[in-house]
Amino acid sequence: PVLVVDYGAQYAQLIARRVREAQVYSEVVPHTATAAEMLDRNPSAIILSGGPSSVYAGDAPSIDPALFDAGVPVFGICYGFQVMAQALGGTVEHTGTREFGRTEVDVSGGRLHEELPARHPVWMSHGDCVTKAPEGFEVTASSEGAPVAGFENVGRGFAGVQYHPEVAHSPHGQEVLRRFLHEIARIRPQWTTSSIVDDQVARIRAEIGDDGHAICALSGGVDSAVAGALVQRAIGDRLTCVFVDHGLLRSGERTQVERDFVAATGVNLVTVDARDQFLTALAGVSDPEEKRKIIGREFIRVFERAARDLKEKGDAEYLVQGTLYPDVVESGGGTGASNIKSHHNVGGLPEDLQFTLVEPLRLLFKDEVRRVGLELGLPETIVQRQPFPGPGLGIRIIGEVTGDRLDTLRAADAIAREELSAAGLDRDIWQCPVVLLADVRSVGVQGDGRTYGHPVVLRPVSSEDAMTADWTRLPYDVLERISTRITNEVAEVNRVVLDVTSKPPGTIEWE
Ligand code: XMP
Repeated sequence: PVLVVDYGAQYAQLIARRVREAQVYSEVVPHTATAAEMLDRNPSAIILSGGPSSVYAGDAPSIDPALFDAGVPVFGICYGFQVMAQALGGTVEHTGTREFGRTEVDVSGGRLHEELPARHPVWMSHGDCVTKAPEGFEVTASSEGAPVAGFENVGRGFAGVQYHPEVAHSPHGQEVLRRFLHEIARIRPQWTTSSIVDDQVARIRAEIGDDGHAICALSGGVDSAVAGALVQRAIGDRLTCVFVDHGLLRSGERTQVERDFVAATGVNLVTVDARDQFLTALAGVSDPEEKRKIIGREFIRVFERAARDLKEKGDAEYLVQGTLYPDVVESGGGTGASNIKSHHNVGGLPEDLQFTLVEPLRLLFKDEVRRVGLELGLPETIVQRQPFPGPGLGIRIIGEVTGDRLDTLRAADAIAREELSAAGLDRDIWQCPVVLLADVRSVGVQGDGRTYGHPVVLRPVSSEDAMTADWTRLPYDVLERISTRITNEVAEVNRVVLDVTSKPPGTIEWE
């Protein structure tokens, strides 16, 4: 793999994704990993990422110079560029000229910037800068605040840039990374979707063996669907997928799993109809946290029962989980079996059930998961699905959850989704919760009569990762169609309101 050394900023995962976009497999390692540990992994190149430190700070993370003697190509970015310059005998200075944000660089020759415009914009974020490149290096870029903004020593496979090539604000950045990987480090681009599928299928087969059985909980979401489809590809009928209908699903979601997912994969599916059980457990409850707890608890009860049945029949020793690579990195895990720890209880199953976890997506980023899903023949409706919370519509009814209220919300939600899709807006919005204010009534007039109905809230948001979000400026004509249709077609609703709050301060969901 290409190892991306994480110096503590937000950039390492993004760099790893960009490397994979150049069809080269990459992994993130902490900067505390020793040179020996990194070299043990047999890296095809090492990328030193940006970080918040100054190389002069007492506690600045550094690098073991032995890394540069191993014959492994190295690329330094931002802080990593300075660390590299210093370790190889160049000069890094605190000149007092800082550059933040969009900056023009002038490039001159070199392999990294070949064929790029002589002057082009990049994204900078630095206080210190390299004032003298190490011996044997050609300086290939400079900016006003950074006399050495790029250097390379093609013979040794070393290069680096002061700016951030991985961010979208550096429009030629991906090209620069690609040139380092393919031309300077001479790595062959082999990480393609079909190779990912082949690799993972082989891995799962090896893990589960020739007669092991597995179980997978389908949530209707992308990750569990792709995880299930991959394992099905690997072990066929020895996988059983379990889908719990808790009655808090949106319109069409059960069909999507029972019909579309099964048609695409041929998977063994067991649907557990637990709608009454959930409604009974939720009766009289309107506190959001209590609702969430009840839904989580009942879900585990239902799934545990199904799992126990399968286990007793000898039809499950393995439990499939859709853990993604960012979760693995964030929980401090690398690859390798010794690191499967923090996600042990993701399924919430009790220890005495003793399943061995299979995590077929633990090396993949979300966009890769989607591509793998398409490659496995899953429909776009599943693969491009927007996020939907596990507790479902239960946390989109403000007040007690009842069967009638769920029907009302389901109808309104279906209209909003239909109109947003018809307007071609699915890719522009992250998600658009529709929330029923079940304890609020307002006066309206419809036809000749007075109404006293409930409002629904539209909550369209744009986001990169759901950590922060902005409300989406939907076109007025789309809002108008949604509003008119909901008030005409959904009897209990006489008012449609728009949530124009960003996150923070508002969360995406209302509960
Ligand atoms: P908030 O409301 O915290 O939501 O801004 C952030 C994102 O997480 C989703 N969400 C959940 N997803 N189980 C989930 O699987 C949950 O309990 C849950 N709660 C919120 C939400 O839809 C949004 O995408």
